[in-house]
Amino acid sequence: MFPQFEKLPSPIFIMHEEKLVSNLEKMAYVQVKAGVKIILALKGFSMYSTFPIVRKYLFGSTASSLHEAKLGHEEFGGETHVYSPAYREDEFDELMTYADYYSFNSLNQFHKFSPRLFAKKPAAKAGLRINPEYSTVTTDLYNPCIPGSRLGIRAEDLPENLPDGISFFHSHNLCESDSFALEETLKSIEKLFGKYLPKLKKLNLGGGHLMTREGYDIDHLINTLLAFKKRHPHLELILEPGSAVAWQTGYLSSTVLDIVSSKGINVAILDCSISAHMPDVIEMPYKPKVLNASDPVIGKPTYRLGGQTCLAGDFVGDYSFEKPLHIGDKVVFDDMMHYTMVKTTTFNGINLPHIGIWKQNNEFDLVKSFGYSDFKSRL
Ligand SMILES: Cc1ncc(COP(=O)(O)O)c(C=O)c1O
Repeated sequence: MFPQFEKLPSPIFIMHEEKLVSNLEKMAYVQVKAGVKIILALKGFSMYSTFPIVRKYLFGSTASSLHEAKLGHEEFGGETHVYSPAYREDEFDELMTYADYYSFNSLNQFHKFSPRLFAKKPAAKAGLRINPEYSTVTTDLYNPCIPGSRLGIRAEDLPENLPDGISFFHSHNLCESDSFALEETLKSIEKLFGKYLPKLKKLNLGGGHLMTREGYDIDHLINTLLAFKKRHPHLELILEPGSAVAWQTGYLSSTVLDIVSSKGINVAILDCSISAHMPDVIEMPYKPKVLNASDPVIGKPTYRLGGQTCLAGDFVGDYSFEKPLHIGDKVVFDDMMHYTMVKTTTFNGINLPHIGIWKQNNEFDLVKSFGYSDFKSRL
């Protein structure tokens, strides 16, 4: 029975397939009930060994770059969407061999690339990323609507008539948000961009819809989408979440290499790195959940969990355990599948975590292990 972390190589990102399927079933329910299309944002989750499962539920993938578009085209199939703040001249021809939907971040970019796009790929669709000027995101790092944002065109900067060839708008302003934030976003889009909507065929509502989080009001999401569709029946709606697909579907399991004491603080040094393997913990910042551990409790064995690099700040915070930790014990970080996995580095030359899947049939599949060549090939 899962989890048997002691038997797995370390450190390892381990996907719990049953949890992924459970998320996908919820998302498929939303698609059917609300009549929308959901595609996977590869920037949030790119573990392509799971794509044979994910593609049974979702319509396709969306990319932020040439390489993600290639991965989506090769490994996911279905519709391949792409958005980049600015496409590169030297990559666009190759990009056109992979993507079907192109979201442009400015009219400049649209005018520069769309003639080539429509000449080579007449069936391709082109759209504009808009800035809905509404966001509930409180961290500027994740808020595309801050003043001076380079992401998306403001309504005041659009001409009275859209140029020919634009068939959709693309809005992304949410991050781990609820359906009420989406409801307000839709109001803002209608208020600022309402006059353009009758001329479009699709509206892509970006990511950030955390419909697989416990407590998310899925019925409200469905009703919000249905109400919008009633007002704009000609528009096909697309959602492109990343986090929601892999939300709480797996772990980063590590091993205690040493325990040192510093001014009365016990520090467990793990065989992973917070900085190299979980950079969002430092960047966001946030304190991840550790299995069988809690925030510090007086009287319980308490440790600061630190990584294997020499960065002084390569630690995650203090946790209490039921029993004292020993060298060789496992320390397992929860919810490490979205973003964490795609953001790893080999800082300090430390090895990347293995990647594995705990399958629905209870078998463990070691998908990938890394080594010196992965480190060296990047330098
Ligand atoms: C344009 C766009 N679409 C989709 C996403 C996915 O968002 P999330 O993983 O929060 O659902 C992002 C995330 O930054 C994004 O920038």
